[in-house]
Amino acid sequence: MTPRFAKHELQKAAELLRAGQVIAFPTETVYGLGADATNAQAVADIFAAKNRPSFNPLIVHVADLAAAQQIAEFDAAAGRLAQAFWPGPMSLVLPLKPQAGICDLVTAGLPSVAVRVPAHPLAQKLLRLTGRPVAAPSANPSGRISPTTADHVLEGLDGKIAGVVDGGPCDVGVESSIFGGTPLALLRPGGVSREAVEQVLGHPLAEQAADGGVTAPGQLRSHYAPDAGLRLNVTARGAVPHLGFGAGASDMTLSATGDLHEAAQNLFAMLRAMDRLARTAGTDHFTVAPVPMVGLGLAINDRLARAAAPR
Ligand code: TXA
Ligand code: MG
Repeated sequence: MTPRFAKHELQKAAELLRAGQVIAFPTETVYGLGADATNAQAVADIFAAKNRPSFNPLIVHVADLAAAQQIAEFDAAAGRLAQAFWPGPMSLVLPLKPQAGICDLVTAGLPSVAVRVPAHPLAQKLLRLTGRPVAAPSANPSGRISPTTADHVLEGLDGKIAGVVDGGPCDVGVESSIFGGTPLALLRPGGVSREAVEQVLGHPLAEQAADGGVTAPGQLRSHYAPDAGLRLNVTARGAVPHLGFGAGASDMTLSATGDLHEAAQNLFAMLRAMDRLARTAGTDHFTVAPVPMVGLGLAINDRLARAAAPR
């Protein structure tokens, strides 16, 4: 029911976005569910399609730093991170410029806004053709596994959205890292590692944003949830299906060579596949091998912990 747009049909998708429709599109992290961030009705339709709690604010996507500066106040540290990591898998929570016209539903009424410049060439083109800031959460029903293909998007949202731009599988595979607060803190681990950001800043990130005003309500504990339960940090395959990492017997492996980039790329598609395996095997859970807590491993462990959290 929901049409799929090929890469040469971006103009159609942009026109629908400009007309206040909700369109899913690929980014290098996961597929986003986009709407014109200045159109309250369009943004409300994102929440409705996802069944998302309305207190959870959205990330605003723009094509470049100049467009981001129309929306948010950049201090020196934020400017340095933007120069170093945009376009790319990083979002910054910064003071909102009220005159930018971003609707309250996007920021959940907060005085701050999350902004991101995605690197995916189709996202870049779509944003330029649309010519508006595009609010976009991940294109999945709220609380479910994030989509890394157009098929995943349609599994959850077919008939509820005006279209999906098909750009094939996402390269990074986990959502953007979110940094914000004064001093800057890591609010959500993701595609840009904490280590890389600290290197650019020249000092460690704060443990928690000191200004207290910044919270990431998206840090709901249960998230990215398959139907089956997960048991984490299980080192060997037992009686139930096992999702491996590195050497060792498994039903499926995030990366046989222990490569974290490959593991992040595979994560959400394999959580879906393991869910199906568990169902076929008639078990109510599956097990997952330990993944090291370095680089992209932080984001992978964060998503696994949420997928395993009690619901
Ligand atoms: O990679 C990504 O970031 C993907 C793609 C589509 O760009 N988007 C994404 O959006 O993951 P979403 O809505 O699933 O996650 C947005 C996160 C939420 O945890 C939300 O609470 C946080 O960003 N957030 C948004 N605005 C915020 C704000 N003003 N202050 C604090 N956190 C904010
Ligand atoms: Mg999400």
